Amino acid sequence: MLHPAIARMTLEQKAALLSGADLWHTRAIDDAGVVSRTLSDGPHGVRLQDASQDHLGIYGSAPATAFPTGAALGSTWDPDLIEEVGAALGREARDLGVDVLLGPGINIKRSPLCGRNFEYLGEDPFHAGVLGAAWVRGVQSRGVGASLKHFAANNQETERLRVSAEVDERTLREIYLPAFERTVAEAAPATVMCSYNKVNGTFASEHRWLLSEVLRDEWGFEGYVVSDWGAVHDPVASLRAGLDLEMPSTGEASPAAIVAAVESGELDEAVVDRAVARILGTHDRFDALRGATDALDIDAHHALARRAAAEAAVLLSNRDGALPLHPTDGGMIAVIGAFATEPRFQGGGSSHVNPTRVDVALDEIRRLTPRPVEHAPGFTHDGTGGDELATHAVALAARADAAVLFLGLPEEDESEGFDRAHLNLPAAQLDLLERVAAVCERVVVVLSNGGALALGGVVEHAEAVLEMWLGGQAAGGAAADVLLGVAEPGGRLAETLPLRLEDTPAFLNFPGDRDRVLYGERIYVGYRWYDAVDRDVLAPFGHGLSYTDFELDELDVEIPDPTGPCATVHVRVTNTGERAGATVVQLYVSDPVATLDRPASELKGFAKVKLAAGESERLTFELDERAFQFWSRHGWLAEAGEFVVRIGMSSRDIRAERSIALDLPASLASLTVDSTITEWLAHPQGGVVVQGILGAMAANSGGAGLSEGPGLRMVEQLSLSRLFQLAGRDGKAEVERILAGLTVGAR
Ligand code: BGC
Repeated sequence: MLHPAIARMTLEQKAALLSGADLWHTRAIDDAGVVSRTLSDGPHGVRLQDASQDHLGIYGSAPATAFPTGAALGSTWDPDLIEEVGAALGREARDLGVDVLLGPGINIKRSPLCGRNFEYLGEDPFHAGVLGAAWVRGVQSRGVGASLKHFAANNQETERLRVSAEVDERTLREIYLPAFERTVAEAAPATVMCSYNKVNGTFASEHRWLLSEVLRDEWGFEGYVVSDWGAVHDPVASLRAGLDLEMPSTGEASPAAIVAAVESGELDEAVVDRAVARILGTHDRFDALRGATDALDIDAHHALARRAAAEAAVLLSNRDGALPLHPTDGGMIAVIGAFATEPRFQGGGSSHVNPTRVDVALDEIRRLTPRPVEHAPGFTHDGTGGDELATHAVALAARADAAVLFLGLPEEDESEGFDRAHLNLPAAQLDLLERVAAVCERVVVVLSNGGALALGGVVEHAEAVLEMWLGGQAAGGAAADVLLGVAEPGGRLAETLPLRLEDTPAFLNFPGDRDRVLYGERIYVGYRWYDAVDRDVLAPFGHGLSYTDFELDELDVEIPDPTGPCATVHVRVTNTGERAGATVVQLYVSDPVATLDRPASELKGFAKVKLAAGESERLTFELDERAFQFWSRHGWLAEAGEFVVRIGMSSRDIRAERSIALDLPASLASLTVDSTITEWLAHPQGGVVVQGILGAMAANSGGAGLSEGPGLRMVEQLSLSRLFQLAGRDGKAEVERILAGLTVGAR
């Protein structure tokens, strides 16, 4: 049913509603009782600007809590925590009069060079989907809509306004779309934001297949699609494809184009009504959710930001138990590095937040320990400062019991709008580290960066390395908490850390040429790639150390019905160390034999667990059919046979595995006249028929068998009809007869 206000609106008024009033608001239609709505960035803090300002974070905005960025939140692997952060974001948005918060950003990290990786959750679609849904649920629990972005295949900043992502359907379905699909299904976001780029030659803003067929018809999305800011080129074409709201305003141009198209008969007015109905209906839905709300507690939000930043902190290495530092015993702690006093905790561009306050790591460390703490900057953010600063820092480290170096990427290295060119820390920082390591036995590095770095030199010279990402306004406090053992390093890598840029999956195909980028690595993104090419990495996906130890045992897989591809997995996790701690138990599924190439294993479940020393917990994971499927020419498909369920602490730290056999009927759907011999043989019924045919053909010719060995290899890529034809028979007719003879409904 269309929205009641539509009947009260003229065509001009309806067209006016389909593009913004200015940068951040929709238009009000007073006669029809339609009020203006406010949309605001997002994702990890509310960036409310006044309407005259920019959308790229250059000008200021109202103060709001800068929560950890997407890269950090992704590293928490904790949907409950992310939901809590989402609810706080929603609470602040509501207080500032924001109707739609432009986030979360859930694009998959295809290359570590993408300038916006700090806003995104990780390299795995299952992980990003679970956490994206939690984020949306949290924001929307406060009656504020979320905007899931950027849909789709927006994985770089270079030429982002016009580049065409050339990507095959299987790769889209298995890697770049599932996080959107899961979030839509589980959390019903108010809006989805289409990206700037083209997908296979068509702008996402005009992509009917993406915006209508996949998003709405297949996934059941019921909110409205908003354009990224300035992503619309032809408002009528976009509307027809399934876009509803163009942002920001184009003045009278877009409404006039829509009215003209309706008047000339080029555009059906029903398409306009449909978009208006989606926009108004979505806002009504959220108005209805806006009950009374508790008082806004900015201090509590800062505390939440601090807790979340510690939960995101990944302890990459920790030789000889260098961390945690003893809170009371020991000599002087040298805190070195500009990042210790001038923190970098968020990235540049549209997500840039004006923080309510900022924790300074040096001050927070001093607050937590009575040990003497001295500071030397060692270098400056902009690389000036020269040798004198470094020499002073080395002299300080030589007198210290432990040196904690706060290193990181300078602001100008990563932001929305451009990609990075390399994965290195500034050379001056690495030199300083080496010099400090030569004079001090316990060297700890704390990192502030949004995108992955090649950290070989850092891991070599430091006893412990703590990756804080761009951890939000309370990251300084969280770093102090983790360093001194007040908090656990709760984070696990949501992206593989490579040894070198040259090892990364998209190295040869990133960022493409001027208007085209080929996704040539296909489904082999992140750990799927490193596993497929058997490449060493600095640290694998899922890695992160704890201050305690965990063991996994009693792995058990139940298959309630082997013909329905679902399984329940149980495993026991025990904290075998001497202090309380947290870990992330990860479940990967592999399909060792399949008719298509498949990744060696794929994440299909995870759980963050907090346990006291000696405590155990039995975890249960439910695997649905998607956990076993791949995208085939015929849609999602799981093939009968062996699957392996692996359970571990990272993609390369598998502690136990079980083989299971599934007797799936799903592949029955796949046989056609064009199916190859291989496809027939993989089919439970068809396989029997074709074995018989191959046997008979070989017997008739008196030649070598076609049903095995080199004979089979020679014919397995032929279609059955072609094989008949080569034997002088009417192949098409014969295969049609065979297909008709298979159990009805089984083909
Ligand atoms: C970004 C979006 C953002 C929008 C509004 C665009 O440049 O890509 O993520 O929400 O601006 O600021």
